[in-house]
Amino acid sequence: MATVSPDVPDADSIIVDPRHDDAARLEFAKSVALGLTDTPPWLHSRFLYDERGSQLFEEICEQPEYYLTNSESEILQRYATRIRDETGPLTLIELGSGSSVKTDYLLSAYAANRAPVRYVPVDVSATILLQAKDAIVARHPTVTVTGIADTYEHAFPLFKEFSPSMVMFLGSSIGNFDQRESDIFWQGVSAGLMPGDYVLVGVDLVKDERILHAAYNDAAGVTAQFTKNLFTRINRELGASIDVDQIEHVARYNTEWQRIEIYARFLSQQDVYLHPLDRTIIVPSGTLVMTEISRKYDLEKTKQFLRCFDFSIVDVFTDEKRWFGLLLLQRVGR
Ligand SMILES: C[S@@+](CC[C@H](N)C(=O)[O-])C[C@H]1O[C@@H](n2cnc3c(N)ncnc32)[C@H](O)[C@@H]1O
Repeated sequence: MATVSPDVPDADSIIVDPRHDDAARLEFAKSVALGLTDTPPWLHSRFLYDERGSQLFEEICEQPEYYLTNSESEILQRYATRIRDETGPLTLIELGSGSSVKTDYLLSAYAANRAPVRYVPVDVSATILLQAKDAIVARHPTVTVTGIADTYEHAFPLFKEFSPSMVMFLGSSIGNFDQRESDIFWQGVSAGLMPGDYVLVGVDLVKDERILHAAYNDAAGVTAQFTKNLFTRINRELGASIDVDQIEHVARYNTEWQRIEIYARFLSQQDVYLHPLDRTIIVPSGTLVMTEISRKYDLEKTKQFLRCFDFSIVDVFTDEKRWFGLLLLQRVGR
């Protein structure tokens, strides 16, 4: 399927996480056991993205209620050339790149007049990475793609090799981190970059709760399928036999914490057997297992926060409705 290489990087290749499948499965099982036995219970959101999960996420982006994709696309379409003029030519690294559809505005701007561009997408989902690579190579003859099928943090040590670069983190994926994870993430990104390198980060802004609620409870039920697919994955990869029909998607806005919280509610007790650990965890009826959060941001506070990690704010963009923000940051030298 993909080129497996521990080294950096041929053009138009995908470097996959070199760990053996069994090691990845064991890590998944341990994470599930840890989350389901914690109080309150949770599951790590990165496991939402197997092949089916990535497909479902693409469908979520097409739902009329899920404004995030259109709002961010509007900004990118309008300002991609300005961003390129502000940064000059550099390597584009994208964390959690998914289908890279919105990134196309930036790739087009940086590759204007057939300029050579290196694009380094990083995503845990190898299948979506391969699809994205094929589409980009077909559309942009001067763009070389070096994909990394791994977690964000495993890419941090590679940043220096790609300098000068801009690390992009779009889709408000940053909102999936709680405060502690967010601190660790920004420390890692900042430490990985060279002074002068850039970051482009998309943040979903605080807005009317009804708009937020609708976005995560789409009428077609695609987000509900996305949540439930995590349990189908646990069954398939970890040998569990969870009755997925007995799981309900719950998404609600927590006003105090300014975040959407997504849960799987267990409608009946389920005994979750995890084959790699040979262990069963009993999840009682009525349990709410948190599967994802999506934090909503205030632009001024976000700018102050990001300055704490040695970034200067180069530019800030919003869509017409001011529903979504895109911040261009530069790593300062200290
Ligand atoms: C919310 S989607 C955003 C996709 C795309 N950037 C967009 O804006 O539409 C998050 C993406 O990050 C990937 N992802 C989630 N957690 C990850 C992690 N810890 N490390 C690497 N990729 C991750 C998922 O596979 C998915 O493609």
